[in-house]
Amino acid sequence: MQSYQIAFIPGDGVGTEVSDEAIKILNTLADKYGFQLRIETFGWGCDYYLQHGRMMPDDMLEKLRAFDAIFLGCIGDVNKVPDHISLTLLLTIRKGFDQYVNLRPIKLYPGVDTALKNASPSTVDMAVIRENTEGEYSGTGGFYKLGTPDGAAIQTAIFTQKGCERVMRYAFELARKRKKLGDSPAGMVTNCTKSNALNYSMVFWDKVFDQVAQDYPDIKTDMALVDALTMWMVKNPEFFDVIVASNLFGDIITDLGAMLQGGMGFAAGANINPEKRYPSMFEPIHGSAPKYAGKGIVNPVAAIESIRMMTEHLGETKAGKDIEAALNQVLQTGDVKTRDMGGKHSTAEMGDAVKKALLSP
Ligand code: IPM
Ligand code: MN
Repeated sequence: MQSYQIAFIPGDGVGTEVSDEAIKILNTLADKYGFQLRIETFGWGCDYYLQHGRMMPDDMLEKLRAFDAIFLGCIGDVNKVPDHISLTLLLTIRKGFDQYVNLRPIKLYPGVDTALKNASPSTVDMAVIRENTEGEYSGTGGFYKLGTPDGAAIQTAIFTQKGCERVMRYAFELARKRKKLGDSPAGMVTNCTKSNALNYSMVFWDKVFDQVAQDYPDIKTDMALVDALTMWMVKNPEFFDVIVASNLFGDIITDLGAMLQGGMGFAAGANINPEKRYPSMFEPIHGSAPKYAGKGIVNPVAAIESIRMMTEHLGETKAGKDIEAALNQVLQTGDVKTRDMGGKHSTAEMGDAVKKALLSP
């Protein structure tokens, strides 16, 4: 029997609540498809920090190394720990496990309302590939003469040939796959850039994009400056297929994307090490929402979507398709709606509805 070892990090705030639903769905699939799960839960996060003076043990990466995949609820609670400290947990895993692809599908499920007039399941179906280990998030820099009138800060963005090339290649491969599957007849990669102003980093980025594109003559290319892209994504979402973006730009445009797909409660992300040398990590992209924590009211669909991506990454393709079908059914029927959807159902009720759909013949 196929068996998977999954590391669960529920994290902070509503992270723990959506994690419960994610586990529920994962266990349901294991029973249905006959694979075995060994789930180990790690209680790292802001409460751990208050107890131990650090977000996670020093040997976190060694502890996680042998798992087949990691699920993360979400990390951060600014009332307890400053964000730039708490988020080291997340960023250490992304970088430490060379999860250089952050795959964020922007897909509107039928039955889900958005703020956008022209959004429909057929117009909102794209994927952002966010570089996830370098760029503006390289973490290099320093302070100078702090506390004096000359005080200054430097934050350096690092773009390497290898780093740009591999993530762009992944984007082109994904466009090819989507084209083949008929998800997108166009087969196009949009280069999200800002080379009009960032005359070193983004000029370099564009150059690598053009080099990589040469290897994919069957895939169309497109280029958009990030500021204009935020406008086009709202105005003409149907135009986009795969978008490749640097770490920071990808971060920003995927929150915009979340609104196209109905809100943060629907936006999921996969931090992938495509070579599978290290475990990949799956997480909803929303935060820990401290003001909603403990109320059981947030939408677990993003977390469940993350489980869908996890099962596909593990090779349980049927299980992944099954989650998609179950979500389609539950959301389209509209009998169960969490607060963000204008309903009154709880986090657990939404999880239960998806579970029921998975188990119905
Ligand atoms: C995300 C988040 C993180 C990021 C934060 C919490 C550090 O916004 O996953 O999009 O910026 O990558
Ligand atoms: Mn973000």
